[in-house]
Amino acid sequence: MRLLVTGGCGFIGTNFVLHILETHPDAFILNLDKLTYAGNRANLADLEQDSEHYAFVRGDIADKALVVSLIKERRLDAVVNFAAETHVDRSIAGPAVFAQTNVAGTLNLLEAAREARVERFLHVSTDEVYGTLGPDGQFFETTPLAPNSPYSASKAAADHFVRAYHETYGLDTVTTRCSNNYGPYQFPEKLVPLMRLKAKNDEPLPVYGDGSNVRDWIYVLDHCRGVELALLKGRAGEVYNFGGAAEMANIDVVKAILRRTGQPESLIRFVADRPGHDRRYAMNFDKARKELGFEPAMDFETGLDKTVEWYDNNPAWLESVQSGAYREFMDQWYKERR
Ligand code: NAD
Ligand code: DAU
Repeated sequence: MRLLVTGGCGFIGTNFVLHILETHPDAFILNLDKLTYAGNRANLADLEQDSEHYAFVRGDIADKALVVSLIKERRLDAVVNFAAETHVDRSIAGPAVFAQTNVAGTLNLLEAAREARVERFLHVSTDEVYGTLGPDGQFFETTPLAPNSPYSASKAAADHFVRAYHETYGLDTVTTRCSNNYGPYQFPEKLVPLMRLKAKNDEPLPVYGDGSNVRDWIYVLDHCRGVELALLKGRAGEVYNFGGAAEMANIDVVKAILRRTGQPESLIRFVADRPGHDRRYAMNFDKARKELGFEPAMDFETGLDKTVEWYDNNPAWLESVQSGAYREFMDQWYKERR
C-alpha cells in the first residue's frame, strides 16, 4: 500500500494516517498538505523520522505538476483526498477559497491521478452534499444532491467531477460521504472542541438558533475505518455513505459537553442562526454495511468521554493551534533535528 494522502495534517487526515500506519505496517504514506490554518504538521512530526513509511510535502492539490511528479517518483498507487476547506461558517464569510481548493483543487488532483495512472482515487466527501432533511427520513447514496452552503456546494461540485472522471476517462474512483466527525485533533472552530474550550474557559457557549438542528455524530476513527474499507473493498465508480447512527440535537451535544466539564447550563447562549442552516442530517449506510462490512464501533457517550479526555490531556496542542504557534514550534523542531 503506497498512498498519496492529501490534507493529512488536518483533523481526519491525521487520524487516518495514524490508523493506516498502525494497521498496515508495510504501508508508505506521502502526506501532501498546504498547511492552511487547519493544517498542523506537528501532529505527525514524529513519523517524519521513519522515511520508509511516511513523508511530508508541503504543497497544494491544485499544483498538478507537483502531484504528478510525487506520484511517479514515489511510486504511489492510490490517492486519498482529504484536502479541503471544511468550515461552513468560513464558507459563508468567503466562498472563493472553497471553490478554489474543493472544486479546482480536486479537479487538478483528478487530472494528475489520471496522468500518473494511479490505481484508485478515493475522494472523501460529506453528507452535506445531500442538503437537509425534515424530521423523518435518511440520506441514501441515490438521494439527489441539493447543497445549501457554499461549502457543501463546493463539495458537491467536486463529487460530480469525480463521477465524471470515472464515467468519461475510466479512472477508478470511489467517493465516501460521511456525517459529522468528532475526536482528537479537531480544530476548535467546530462544535465539539469549540464548546469544550469555551466551557473550560468559563465563557458563554454560542448555540445557533434554538439548538434543535440535528447532526449524526461519528467518532473519527470509525470514519477512518470506513475510508480504509472503501479504499480496499469499494467498487469502482461507487459512492458509500458512512454515519454514526447517533443523531443528536445540537443543544443535547452542548449539554453533554457541559456535564463533562462540570460547568452549568447557564453558560448556554442562543445566538443568531447560521444562514441557510441545514435542519437535520441522517445517514443510511446499509450499502457500506453490506458491501464493505462497515459498522461504527464507538457509541456517542464513550466517544465524547474519550474526546474531552484527549483535549484535557493535550492543552499544549490546543494552545498552539489557537495561537498559530505550531508553525514556530515546527521550525524549532526541524532545527533541532537537522
Ligand atoms: P480540516 O479542515 O481539519 O483539514 C483540512 C486539511 O486540508 C488541512 O490540513 C489543510 O491544511 C489541508 N488543505 C486545505 N487546502 C489544501 C490544498 N489546497 N492543498 C493541500 N492541502 C490543503 O478538515 P477535516 O475535518 O479533517 O476534513 C477532511 C475531509 O473530510 C474534507 O474533505 C471534508 O470535507 C471531509 N469531511 C469532514 C467531516 C467532518 O465532520 N469534519 C465529515 C465528512 C467529511
Ligand atoms: O456533516 C459533515 C460536516 O460536518 C463536514 O462536512 C464539515 O466539514 C464539518 O465542518 C461539519 O459541518 P457542520 O456545519 O455540521 O459542523 P459544525 O461543527 O460547524 O456545526 C455543527 C452544528 O452545530 C451545526 O448545526 C451548527 C451548530 N453550531 C456550530 C458552531 C461552530 C452552533 O450551534 N454553534 C457554533 O458555534
